[in-house]
Amino acid sequence: MKVATIVGARPQFIKMAPVSRELRKHFDEIVIHTGQHYDYEMNKIFFEQLNIPEPDYYLGVGSGSHGYQTGGMLQGIEEVLIKERPDLVLVYGDTNSTLAGALASVKLHIRIAHVEAGLRSFDKRMPEEINRVLTDHISDYLFAPTETAVKNLHKEGIKDGVYLTGDVMYDALLYNIKIAREKSRILDELGLRSKEYMLATVHRAENTDNQKNLESIIDAFIESNELIVFPAHPRTRKYLKTYGLMEKIEKATNILLIPPVGYLDMLVIEENARKILTDSGGVQKEAYFLKVPCITLRERTEWVETVEDGWNILVGANKSEIRRAIKEFEPSGETYSYKFGDGKASMKIARILSEQLDR
Ligand code: UD1
Ligand code: UDP
Repeated sequence: MKVATIVGARPQFIKMAPVSRELRKHFDEIVIHTGQHYDYEMNKIFFEQLNIPEPDYYLGVGSGSHGYQTGGMLQGIEEVLIKERPDLVLVYGDTNSTLAGALASVKLHIRIAHVEAGLRSFDKRMPEEINRVLTDHISDYLFAPTETAVKNLHKEGIKDGVYLTGDVMYDALLYNIKIAREKSRILDELGLRSKEYMLATVHRAENTDNQKNLESIIDAFIESNELIVFPAHPRTRKYLKTYGLMEKIEKATNILLIPPVGYLDMLVIEENARKILTDSGGVQKEAYFLKVPCITLRERTEWVETVEDGWNILVGANKSEIRRAIKEFEPSGETYSYKFGDGKASMKIARILSEQLDR
């Protein structure tokens, strides 16, 4: 049996690492990389650090508008699928690579498994929400990380093929955190001391492509006077330059703007941060797993459990709310009631697929 895994963006490399390890015990796997992310620190560093198998196909689609990017991927993936004829296609998360992979497969009548199915922010202005909803509705096997995700799918009438497995990012974190603590020297390299700094990541279109929002976020960071380490996504760096915000950041003595870091360094920076400011989906979850208070620079989140449990607060791009949360937000207690699985989601996914496809 042959499975084709389709990935293209940073969080997908992290998600596929534990799943691929398990899948290869049951299947022949081929990896198709769309080329959505291509800079060394957005791409290759993850394959090297996490021992992910090299892609069998690299489509090199690169950056562009949604139509250009998704269309290019669709064409490239279709060609590979026609040649390889896998028994199943596996897609992850909610990026344009996810949707293109699923769409190419369904038209060729190839079964689709979606890892991280059922997530909803209920905000259709976010490209990720469109990608998730459409992918879920054409998938045959839907691997939901949480109870909430299962309920979301049921409400949309999707009942067959839904499995509650837990979250593969939790698997990845459990597997790598000890390695990260041993190997990473990032705190020394950056001159950071545990719990004496905050971490920020910003890359979502609603924040970066909107000058008012990005400026308000940066002003809040600068005015907080807290030491904030800020590994900037290339998209964000581009817009910081476009909006003339780079000079402001360079002048500010409390903002440490650095290139994106590898996963092991990221885990260490996250674990030792006093608070995390982010619009990332994955980083919100990792903050929760590591018990670091999270301030989410969005109006809505698909990871509602982290908010319900008091470890995450939604502040959008509002300067005074961000500043207030930096100063005052503390988790409401020791509650830690939501489960993202038991660290064996990847094993369950591989087992379910091997049972189902053998039939
Ligand atoms: C994509 C996903 C987003 C996910 C994020 C993970 C979509 C619609 N968005 O957003 O859901 O959270 O990945 O990081 O799929 N760029 C580079 N080098 C790279 C990659 C990107 O310079 O290696 C720059 C380019 O200017 C590009 C911009 O970043 O135009 C945006 O990249 P793109 O892949 O389109 O979207 P992301 O913002 O990365
Ligand atoms: N990440 C990383 N280095 C960074 C920023 C993020 O390794 O400089 C990791 C992070 O730990 C998490 C994943 O990338 O595992 C999240 O991806 P991202 O924020 O790009 O996308 P999202 O989760 O929002 O889709």
